Amino acid sequence: MDTVNIALIGDGFMGRAHSNAWSQVGKFFDPPVRPVLHTVCAREADKLARFAERWGWQNTSTNWHDVVTSADIDLVDIATPNDTHAEIAIAALKAGKHVACEKPLANTFYAARQMRDAAREASGKTSTWLNYRRCPAVAYAYKLVEDGVLGDITRVDAAYLQDWADKTVPLIWRFDNEVAGSGTLGDLVAHVIDMAQFVTGELITEVAGAYLKTVIDQRELQTGDAGGGIAADTERTAERGKVTVDDTVAFTSLLSGGGVATFQGARQAWGNENRNRLEVSGSKGALRFDFEDMNVLWLYDATRPRGVRGWTRIMCTHAPDHPYVDNWWPDAHLLGYEHTFVNQSYDVLLSLAGQEPTVPLPDFEDAFQTQGVLAAVQQCAESRQVVPLASVE
Ligand SMILES: NC(=O)c1ccc[n+]([C@@H]2O[C@H](COP(=O)([O-])OP(=O)(O)OC[C@H]3O[C@@H](n4cnc5c(N)ncnc54)[C@H](O)[C@@H]3O)[C@@H](O)[C@H]2O)c1
Repeated sequence: MDTVNIALIGDGFMGRAHSNAWSQVGKFFDPPVRPVLHTVCAREADKLARFAERWGWQNTSTNWHDVVTSADIDLVDIATPNDTHAEIAIAALKAGKHVACEKPLANTFYAARQMRDAAREASGKTSTWLNYRRCPAVAYAYKLVEDGVLGDITRVDAAYLQDWADKTVPLIWRFDNEVAGSGTLGDLVAHVIDMAQFVTGELITEVAGAYLKTVIDQRELQTGDAGGGIAADTERTAERGKVTVDDTVAFTSLLSGGGVATFQGARQAWGNENRNRLEVSGSKGALRFDFEDMNVLWLYDATRPRGVRGWTRIMCTHAPDHPYVDNWWPDAHLLGYEHTFVNQSYDVLLSLAGQEPTVPLPDFEDAFQTQGVLAAVQQCAESRQVVPLASVE
């Protein structure tokens, strides 16, 4: 296979991020197979035609069924709202396609399990756009922990905090439980759950003390397919509808190595615009990452004499030490959000060619495990009981 014909489903926020990734990857990396921007599919034909022209997609369609079963397509890239992931992914896997799906894997644990099961039976390879693994600083943190720099992991403190969802934002799909499956939990905290498990190499085994709260419970209704982008410039009516998801999340959890991990998420954490933050402590030291300063990783070496200990600021732009950056720019010529998607598209292409990705790629099995944590948090918040992951159904 020299080329991979891609079908992208969705032309919203992630449609743009993925289109950029597939068109940039061959310019900065040397992938073993070349991506072809074959077909883009979404619901509004006019908008879609403009989108295809702008991003260089060869064909358009408003019927994802036809697209994912077409003999021309090798990889189906799903960038639609959460309630559509399972149907599209399962149809694509049954048609023998590879699938790259946005997170969270699905809107329910049940749908996620169906996707995981379909992936187990399929010939195609799966991956999930849990893209923050591919910030060079996060990928480097993974490697440092793997090399034993932190020793035994004792604690994780993770949070994904944003502040866009004030009362002026209308009732976009992200506030609808039927579509999204959860609010901040699946939208934001899914990312830090994945990052925490990825960096530590450990799994969450039980969840306790979970709270899910809706801060703004009514919003103006939106008209048309204006998208769920957080800067949704969208028409709305004066009528209001009910928000059926969480705005704020907090929970504690146990890691498979015995350490304790705490998580928080919010959409009204004023002053935190995209603070995706992770701190990991071990018997020998600690690491700290904050996406608002995403090129930097902080390392604390607790094996040094007390008097000279302190946080070391590492600019993760130095090739070849820091993953991915030899394909980008010289030292401290900084990377941004979009590079995480380009880095991931490179690793997807490596994996399709049977090669090892730069760092592990989250497949449907991994994303299903993360979905299990989301379900455990929901069950814990409702029951006020400790929820072992093994008990989630
Ligand atoms: N990895 C990340 O950092 C990240 C960031 C934002 C969103 N996401 C995820 O990406 C997905 C999409 O989110 P978004 O912000 O791009 O949403 P969006 O509302 O901006 O775009 C959704 C797109 O899906 C299309 N669509 C909806 N139903 C469809 C259907 N039945 N057939 C064809 N197209 C359909 C819409 O036309 C639109 O183009 C969600 O699962 C979300 O959780 C991930």
